[in-house]
Amino acid sequence: MSIHTIIIGTGSHLPDSVVTNKDLEGRVNTTDEWIRSRTGIHQRYIANDHETNSYLATQSARKALDMAGVRPQDLDLIIVSTMTPDMPMPSVACLVQNELGAKKAGAFDLQATCSGFLYGLSVADKFIRDNRRMKILVIGSEVLSRRTNWEDRSTCVLFGDGAGAVVLTGTKEDRGILSSHLHADGSLGDLLTIRGLGTAHPELSEILEKGWQYIEMQGREVFKCAVKALESVAWEALEANGWTGDDVDLLISHQANIRILNLLGERLGLSKEKIFINIHKYGNTSAASIPIALDEANRKGILVSGLHILLVAFGGGFTWGSVAMRW
Ligand code: UT7
Repeated sequence: MSIHTIIIGTGSHLPDSVVTNKDLEGRVNTTDEWIRSRTGIHQRYIANDHETNSYLATQSARKALDMAGVRPQDLDLIIVSTMTPDMPMPSVACLVQNELGAKKAGAFDLQATCSGFLYGLSVADKFIRDNRRMKILVIGSEVLSRRTNWEDRSTCVLFGDGAGAVVLTGTKEDRGILSSHLHADGSLGDLLTIRGLGTAHPELSEILEKGWQYIEMQGREVFKCAVKALESVAWEALEANGWTGDDVDLLISHQANIRILNLLGERLGLSKEKIFINIHKYGNTSAASIPIALDEANRKGILVSGLHILLVAFGGGFTWGSVAMRW
């Protein structure tokens, strides 16, 4: 009898403040119409000073634990997928572990940009298939607004802050995670990058002068790569499970651009109702976008028993991946 990993609780948390496209019209040379038509974004949540990455992550975790009926002290492992940690050390996962009082849990951060949550799910799945009694918290949490150049219209309209979390455990039942596939291509890393604030460029003055603390993106190139990679990893997942497009009940993709989601849906032959979209409310929240979407779908009652869900993501690195599951 094989062991499957199941999600037994979901949670998400957004900052208090909303910034609309209209608000951005006053900051850079852009329009609400351009942002909506080119990206699908209407607004995004932006963290205030006290809303750190670990704060958002902890709030989302509490909601997921609450739904799962799992006490923090019963968690075995906490994985936080993020590229915008509070600080290099300690990790966000350790800050969350302390806040929750998850005394016996191991904790580490995982950096795979916008694909980070699916990388985290995949790692957790391996642990649980070894020991089905384990309880693992996987969080995707980002404060991208603090790595955004608010004078660069080509990027500042895209990103938002937020966190989403899931609690995982094992079951002998025929449901849960069915497959995961992870990919990367470091040769294209320059197309989407934050150059500074690592150890390669230790001079802070140089970083600030060159604006290397901010996200830089060759949008059009990234767009093309994203569509291609997402389509290929989706077909890979379908093939691994003996599915056709018709077998997918719900596609939850990383929310980077509504045009990417629509193109992907078309190429997989999915009807519009099968494509989960919430980018209009949150913008691109990187590693947080899929767990936020999962929580939203779950709390709306969309995730009914037996539903075939395909999760796909693509991001800087490049990284991309998929997780297929039966709810
Ligand atoms: O999350 C990780 C993965 N990320 C992605 O997958 C993002 C992928 N890329 C995209 O979503 C899109 O490329 C963007 C939304 C970033 C840009 O859309 P685009 O249709 O590719 O626009 P573009 O970069 O080709 O720019 C078209 C025009 C340019 O003007 P010209 O040169 O045609 O005169 C830009 O300067 O739009 C201009 N532009 C803007 N205009 C108004 C760029 N940003 C803005 C803006 N407002 N905010």
